[in-house]
Amino acid sequence: MKEKIIIFDTTLRDGEQSLQISLNEKEKVKIALALEKMNIDIIEAGFPISSPGDFKSVKSICKNIKKSTICSLARCVEKDIKIAAKAMSELKNFRIHLFLGTSKLHIESKLKKNFEEIHQMALKSIKIAKKYTDDIEFSCEDAGRTSIDNLCKIVESLIKNGVKTINIPDTVGYTIPNEFSKIIKNLYQRVPNIDQAIISVHCHNDLGMAVGNSISAIQSGARQIEGTITGIGERAGNTALEEIIMAIKTRKKLLNFYTNIKHKKIYHTSKIISKICKISIPINKAIIGKNAFAHSSGIHQDGIIKNRKNYEIMSPKDIGLKEVKFNLTSRSGRAAVKQRMQEMGYTEKDYNLKKLYKKFLKLADKKGQIFDYDLETLAFMKNKKQKKKNFILKNLKIITEIYGETKIFINLLCGKKTKNCIIKTKNEIIEGIYQGLNKITKIHTFLKCFQIHSKIQGKNILGKVNIVTIYKNKKFYSTKIEKNIIKASITAMLDIFNNIWKFNQIKKIKK
Ligand code: KIV
Ligand code: ZN
Repeated sequence: MKEKIIIFDTTLRDGEQSLQISLNEKEKVKIALALEKMNIDIIEAGFPISSPGDFKSVKSICKNIKKSTICSLARCVEKDIKIAAKAMSELKNFRIHLFLGTSKLHIESKLKKNFEEIHQMALKSIKIAKKYTDDIEFSCEDAGRTSIDNLCKIVESLIKNGVKTINIPDTVGYTIPNEFSKIIKNLYQRVPNIDQAIISVHCHNDLGMAVGNSISAIQSGARQIEGTITGIGERAGNTALEEIIMAIKTRKKLLNFYTNIKHKKIYHTSKIISKICKISIPINKAIIGKNAFAHSSGIHQDGIIKNRKNYEIMSPKDIGLKEVKFNLTSRSGRAAVKQRMQEMGYTEKDYNLKKLYKKFLKLADKKGQIFDYDLETLAFMKNKKQKKKNFILKNLKIITEIYGETKIFINLLCGKKTKNCIIKTKNEIIEGIYQGLNKITKIHTFLKCFQIHSKIQGKNILGKVNIVTIYKNKKFYSTKIEKNIIKASITAMLDIFNNIWKFNQIKKIKK
């Protein structure tokens, strides 16, 4: 029979302490609600003694969360435990998470004590915590570097004194899977009362081993995994829970475990966390990165068209994504272009695939990624018109008063006519230019994403602008790099307006 793996999320504690911004109460509640919707078993809501703000947030999370167990961190110090319990006092059931360093290094150089002293400290704090709850988790901080004899000794004593969950953290991400699994195996072999507690692991990612170590720990007996969605956490982060959840699901025959997590909520939750925490997810991040399900090479795309299993071990739908389209680049083959045209509703009778593919390769070499509207332009517009720009900027003047109004003058050639407009705004220059272009071109689009990144190239500081807009349910993209950030912004916008204009022309041709 498959055994359950308990999922413990510490985004709001270990994750939050690593951020460059601090989250407010409302944002923390929003994250907690998203985690609860995913069916996370235990949510570590914070470290209430650390600040009045954290205390209030934990209190507020307790008011809002109904299903997941709420947990708060506390050092083995009476006032920490009391405050943690007070923050969760609204709840009938809650968990107190105690931690204390058990490695020689932590005991001697951080805590300035000896092993017996920290052992006694641990027992004393368990006694205090027991006044408030039966659900006590104890973390032997730096367990990855703790002598196995001491670890077995303290774990046995903690369990004897009523600790229900023993956490074995690799606090500094030092161990490697084989080594970490041996620690867990040793505990199972040497601690006589081990069956009376759940063994949990909490791995950091300093050597990139957090997920590997956690999986190896499950195979050796651990039944609770701690981590965060997206993997945020102290330094290089914690175990990325989405990877654990999907590994357990995808390799269920090998691992023989299950989680209660609604995996279809993974993508949405990761988006909420990245937005609130202002962290960007690397494009190649396993499970949730933009490229995690994107196939780029022609051979792979062809293989996928024949049978998705050729290059996909899980479906994007499993994490709540819709079907992911191929990245059409110069590495894509004819089969991928044909498939995309088919997805847009065109059959080979509507266009000439051979000619289209030739033009596609030429444009892809220049442009990089090719989008649906590029393909339609190549397929249905005469060669000359494909390159033609309907909107050409003649002039742009911006007058800004730092404490007053900004006036934007746009002078644009629209086909054969020159058109002008003046926009007055309160320092929202980019938004103002965008509104001006909507007005002059009479193309009304929704600006979905506008990103500016600065890049240093030699002596120059360059501005890179990425824009995504939505027009008639279609996404239009543009990227421009310029020394002048305003110029990069307006040329990227005009690129989009020209592409939309061509898109409308094609629709007219097709009628
Ligand atoms: O990394 C660690 O050891 C911790 C403990 C508090 C569990 O975060
Ligand atoms: Zn940690």
